[in-house]
This record gives sequence, C-alpha cells and structure tokens, in this order.
Amino acid sequence: ALGSTTDTSGNSFIKKLKTSGRSLVAFYGSQTGTGEEFAGRLAKEGVRYQMKGMVADPEEYDMGELVNMKEIPNSLAVFCLATYGEGDPTDNAMDFYEWLQNGSADLTGLNYAVFGLGNKTYEHYNAVGIYVDQRLEELGATRVCELGLGDDDANIEDDFITWKDKFWPSVCESFGIETMGEDVSIRQYQLVEHTEINTDRVYTGEVARLHSLKNQRPPFDVKNPYLAPISVNRELHKAGNRSCMHIEFNIEGSRMRYDTGDHCAVYAKNDDENVEKLGKLLGVNLDTLFTLTNTDEDSSKKHPFPCPTSYRTALTYYLDITSNPRTHILKELSEYCSNPEEQVKLKSMASTSPEGKQLYNSWIIQDNRNILHILEDMPSCKPPIDHICELLPRLQCRYYSISSSSKLHPTTVHITAVRVEYKTPTGRLNKGVATCWLADKKPNTQPDTDLPSPVVPIFIRKSQFKLPTRPQTPIIMIGPGTGLAPFRGFIQERDLYRKEGKPVGETILYFGCRKKSEDYIYQEELEEYVASGTLKLYVAFSREQEQKQYVTHLLEKNKDELWNVIGENNGHLYVCGDAKNMARDVHNIVVNVIKEKGNMEEAQADTYLKKMEAQKRYSADVWS
Ligand code: FAD
Ligand code: 2AM
Repeated sequence: ALGSTTDTSGNSFIKKLKTSGRSLVAFYGSQTGTGEEFAGRLAKEGVRYQMKGMVADPEEYDMGELVNMKEIPNSLAVFCLATYGEGDPTDNAMDFYEWLQNGSADLTGLNYAVFGLGNKTYEHYNAVGIYVDQRLEELGATRVCELGLGDDDANIEDDFITWKDKFWPSVCESFGIETMGEDVSIRQYQLVEHTEINTDRVYTGEVARLHSLKNQRPPFDVKNPYLAPISVNRELHKAGNRSCMHIEFNIEGSRMRYDTGDHCAVYAKNDDENVEKLGKLLGVNLDTLFTLTNTDEDSSKKHPFPCPTSYRTALTYYLDITSNPRTHILKELSEYCSNPEEQVKLKSMASTSPEGKQLYNSWIIQDNRNILHILEDMPSCKPPIDHICELLPRLQCRYYSISSSSKLHPTTVHITAVRVEYKTPTGRLNKGVATCWLADKKPNTQPDTDLPSPVVPIFIRKSQFKLPTRPQTPIIMIGPGTGLAPFRGFIQERDLYRKEGKPVGETILYFGCRKKSEDYIYQEELEEYVASGTLKLYVAFSREQEQKQYVTHLLEKNKDELWNVIGENNGHLYVCGDAKNMARDVHNIVVNVIKEKGNMEEAQADTYLKKMEAQKRYSADVWS
C-alpha cells in the first residue's frame, strides 16, 4: 500500500488522524501479535499525555504518507517492529520495509520512535528495528526517543516497559507536554450479552469467516484453514519419558500444495479442563453468548475475535490462556481484588519499580503462572469475564517444519513434533497447547469400522528454506533434535533424484540427540539412506558420556569437508532446530573455516558469508 495518489479508499492514516483529532499513530510489524499488542498499548496510553492515538497495520495504509505527518502539529509515529527468520521483517511490514530501503522520501518534520522485537538466540538480533530506526533518521525524520530493543528469549515485557518509561518523558519533553494525565484504565470494547440470537450467526471457532469450518472452500490460508484428516500419528522416541510425534496430514483434494522445506501451521484449541476451571473461577455460565465491539469507531479492528460467540468458544479457540500475562493485564486485574494485599501485589508487578519488576520476574515468569494460576492464587481477584476476554492476547497457530518431500508425498504433509509438558515451580503440570492436543488425535486404524479420522485445521506457509535447484549441488544440513524435520524432506527428495538416475551431489547430515536408545528419531530411515548411498551421516549423542557431544563438535572436526562443500564446490549449508545457541555456534565455525581454509581476514570472511546468505547458500530455519 504505497501509492502516492490522493486517497479515497480509507487507506489514508493522515486523514484518519485528522478527522478523529489524533496525533499519535502506532504502526506494528507483527507475526504472532506481540508487536501489535505493544503498539496498541502505546496508542491507548497516549490519552494520558494529550496525544490521542491509533494503532495501524502498515499493510493497510499508504505509508508514503509519512512525508505528510508534519501537517499534524506535535504528531508522532511509533513503530513496534518484529524481526523474523534471517533478519526479515514480518509479512505485514514487508512493503514498508522495502519502501524504506529503496525509496528516498524526504521525511523532514516526521517525529518518530522505534521499538524492535527480536530474539537473541537468532543471529540477526532485531535487525529490522535497528535498520528502520537508523533509516528514518537518514531520511530526515526526528527521533524523539532512542531505539528500544526487546529480547523475546529473556523478558520482552520487561524490555518494553523499561523503554516505555523513557519513551513517554522523551515525548513530553519534545512536545512541551507538561501535565501527565491520570492513569485511568479505559475499556476498549463494549459488551453485549445476547439472550435471543439466531444461533446460526454464532461463531464456533472459525478463524475468520462464519461457518468456514463446516463449509470448507479453497483457497486455504491463514484465515481459512483446511480441516486435514490425520492419517498417521506415531511415537518416534524409543524409550525415555519424553515424546516426539510423527504426524501425517492428508491434504488430498484440498487444492493445497506445498514445497519441500515449507511450514505447516496448526490451529489448536485450549484444554477443555482449563477452560472449565476458568469459568468456575470467574463464576460464569460459559455458554452465554456475547459480542465485544470496539468503542473506537475508526479502528479497523471491530471485534477482538469473531463475535458473537460464547465465552466457552472464546476461551477455547480464540484466546491465549496459557502464556504468562503481561504487566498491563496485571494492572487491570488489580482493580478487581477485594483483598488489598493481592491488589498491592498485582499493582506492584505492573509497575516499573525495581521491586515490582523483580516480583513480576519471579512470581509470573520464573514461577510460570498463567491467568488461571493467578486467579487460583489470588482468590479475591474476580474480574468480569468480558474484561478478561478483552485483555488476553489471541491464541496463535503453531508452525511446524514440514518433514516430507512434496515430490515423494504430494498429498500428505508430515510433521515431527516434540510434545511439550513440564512441571512449573508451583507444582503444576503445564501442557503445550498444540502438541498435547495433537497427541490425542489418533487416526482410526480399525479396518472394519468406518469412524472418521480426527481432523486438524492447518495451512501451508511458504518458506525460504529450499534445496538447491540443481541436484548436483552438494549440501550440508545441521539439524539436531526436531531440527531434523525439514531435512527428512530434503533427503527424501535427493534420494528420489538419485533413484531416477539423476546425478546428485553429496548430501551430508549432522544430527544430534541425547541418547541413541531414546531419541534417535528416524534412525532406521536414515541408516537406509546411508546404506543406499544417498546420505553421509554424522550423529552426536549428547548424554552418553561425561562431556557433551554436539553436532557442532563433529562439524569442527570436519573442517576440510565443510570447506570442500561450501568453498570449493559452491554447495549449500543449512541449519535447523531449536537447540539454544546452536545456530550461532555453527555460524562461528563457518566463519572460522572460511578464514582458515579460504585464507581470508575476518572482514573478507564476513563478506563471503553475507554473499552466501544472499545467494541462499547459507540458510537457517530456527525457532526457540
Ligand atoms: P505451548 O503451549 O506454546 O508451550 C510452549 C511454551 O512453553 C514455550 O514457548 C515455553 O515458554 C514454555 N515451556 C516449554 N517447555 C518448558 C519448560 N521445560 N519449562 C518452562 N517453560 C517451558 N516444533 C517442533 O516440535 N517441530 C518442528 O518441526 C517445529 N518447527 C517449527 C518451525 C517454525 C518456523 C517455528 C516458529 C516453530 C517450530 N516449532 C517446531 C515449534 C512449534 O511451533 C511450537 O512452538 C511447539 O510445538 C510448542 O507448541 P505447544 O502449543 O505444544 O506449546
Ligand atoms: P543437550 O540437551 O544434552 O544439551 C537436540 O536437542 C540435541 O541438541 C540434544 O542432544 C541437545 O543436547 C543438543 N544441543 C543443545 N544445545 C546445543 C548447541 N548449542 N549446539 C548443538 N547441539 C545442541
């Protein structure tokens, strides 16, 4: 949305700001909702500083209008931007990002501030926020507060509120705002409970379109998932008390296509028992039907989730009830405590005082309390359920690296998922929403009954993680644990090419797990590929000896082979997995090999690696 023609179609944020008497616009680049939530909080807090604000999705507006922000006196644009993958912006911020990179607009007179959302375990930590902050200045805009960086691997909420504590005073100083308004909480949505309503109009868990789960219509995507039958769900671990599932979704007839290396997204639901417990604690009839409507008529987000619906559906399908609530939620909860001690505690945790932060960190983060645990442990806290529904973030779909090759399995999508289940310090058992829900979904294997197989709402998300176009190109794949997933697809495909008689370059895999007898997933398949000559395999078992043995240790021993592939034969290197710091360790090894074997200085080696990344010869698919 970057045209510069005069606008009539509602994509003019300047017009919106002007007609509604606002001077603050908070843009977000968000994939999982956190950036959007932060932008929303900033926009809402603006009233306290005489800056009425609005939240805006850069994809929905003509961002070229930033040059005209100066027409609005004392106006400010804030950007809450997440970094994904290899330093990439989120999908919704992509056009804006490219416009900044390629354009040369004169942004003199634009006041701005940037908060970046990133994760330190990834290599390109907060690359997008850092770039946008610097680029806006280059284009002449005025920074009113220094760049804020949030680390999702540590405590991003803490980073955000700490930055916010500097942000508002800077804003006040820049614009000469003297009085700080009352810290009043304002409801964003208005509640209507329905006693008489046509039940056919009620949402029952659809992501967007009413009845989309009953009347399945392609194309299937993030807003319109396909209900895929599960045809296989089997355990991959051989022993031990952890679990890793191999799941196959049947996508025949869906008109969904995937490419090897893509991701499969799963829309799971929350545990029924947790929903029941919440209903009891809040003392409500979960089957009450209701609608929450945005009181801000200019907002493009009319409802926080599809409405009308029931409280049960909202808590089951639409709201994230298992994450650690952020501080602004605790602040709102404190208003509903009849016990002053509980009230003070919640207020403190929502504050930015050192004691408050410390308490939030220990009582919420370390003790791992979610909304349910908080209400259990603060029995006097009785918020109305509709306020809870307004405050909690949306339940997000979960992504999985597809572990099959689309060439070998065009009509089934395989995923490889480790079941998340752990005890919290308060003695509670937390279950991963998606993985524990999937664990119970077993296909019907009784030959004489024709019970339908369970179905799962999924969609395919394209990725940049792709095999080289020419099969002759040699590849090295580094994927400990479930990091093996996409490589299983890669290997299947290279095996297919070899069987078809095509010349195939070396296919080298580094796999790592704890113990050979427990979590060596797909062992038999891998060994067959080795025996047939498709695969060269290195395996590291981390817990079979005193000293940890990791894939990275094996890689260090094979520097000549590594250089042979990436340096001498123009090969590709891939890294995948959730192992902490693994991607960074691999990166360092590769830099060292380039220096050592390629006879390069640090700077040259860096350039070499950057070039490999640009040519997609070095790619990472990592999560945490
Ligand atoms: P959730 O309910 O989301 O709970 C997980 C959260 O619980 C964690 O984020 C952490 O905060 C917390 N937690 C977990 N364990 C502990 C613990 N021991 N102590 C304290 N807190 C803990 N996963 C795979 O298994 N296979 C894949 O191939 C795969 N590919 C992915 C690809 C991409 C691009 C991305 C982004 C993620 C991928 N994931 C993969 C991760 C996957 O999306 C989910 O995050 C994972 O399955 C957990 O989802 P869940 O709903 O079961 O758990
Ligand atoms: P650990 O859990 O025994 O430390 C899959 O998770 C495998 O990756 C496990 O064997 C795990 O070992 C290992 N792993 C953990 N951190 C790693 C790292 N930084 N680099 C490589 N492997 C790692």
